[in-house]
Amino acid sequence: MRKLAAGNWKMNGGRAALDEVAALCAAHPAPECEMLLCPPATLIAQMAWAARGKALKIGGQDCHPAVSGAHTGDISAPMLKDAGAAYVIVGHSERRTDHGETDALVRAKAGAAIAAGLIAIVCIGETEAERDAGATLAVIGAQLDGSLPEGATAATLVLAYEPVWAIGTGRTPTIAEIAEVHGFLRARLTERIGAEAAGVRLLYGGSVKPSNAAEIFAVSDVDGALVGGASLKAVDFGAIVAALAA
Ligand code: 13P
Repeated sequence: MRKLAAGNWKMNGGRAALDEVAALCAAHPAPECEMLLCPPATLIAQMAWAARGKALKIGGQDCHPAVSGAHTGDISAPMLKDAGAAYVIVGHSERRTDHGETDALVRAKAGAAIAAGLIAIVCIGETEAERDAGATLAVIGAQLDGSLPEGATAATLVLAYEPVWAIGTGRTPTIAEIAEVHGFLRARLTERIGAEAAGVRLLYGGSVKPSNAAEIFAVSDVDGALVGGASLKAVDFGAIVAALAA
């Protein structure tokens, strides 16, 4: 399994930010892990061009479940592929919250991504109230069951565990809590897709930064990270890449 350091730029960055891509590629020409940035849609084609021939993959942050049609403002998975993307994030908690996305919609998006030849990064995670109520595993288990696309394999699916309360807050679960969830996800995935589950990358996301990356990556069944704020600067994201590759 090739571990994955993925950056989610969310709604940040313009053309000037392409300097960060050049700096990242120069500092990490051949990392011992996969390196991915998911910029806003406006930058995908340019970033893919900047990353050509480099050890950096580009991804989208969302896609529509349909291939094309009358869906103003939306972007389809084949369009992302055409723009140079290799991955797409689906079901991020900000999409689930801001746009009311359900597990069924996330599942349809993931299926569309895979059909278009993209790798789908399916995001799941509990809210703070759900964790306080002791419902974490029940919530993420249900999200996994509802969001998992048909026929997913280790080559087409990445799963990202992002506790909602840890996103952009500087707070993270304990190492034991991350280990519990990732172990649970591996087992649940094995029930669903059998032996393929062993090769599916399970990412942790939520306030990953250079100072905590190494201890998070030491947790079993953590196969990489989905990084928000700390992926915007090449020096920070590069340090996280280095921690994963170590
Ligand atoms: P932060 O790393 O900024 O907490 O964001 C995590 C995230 O949502 C990545 O998708």
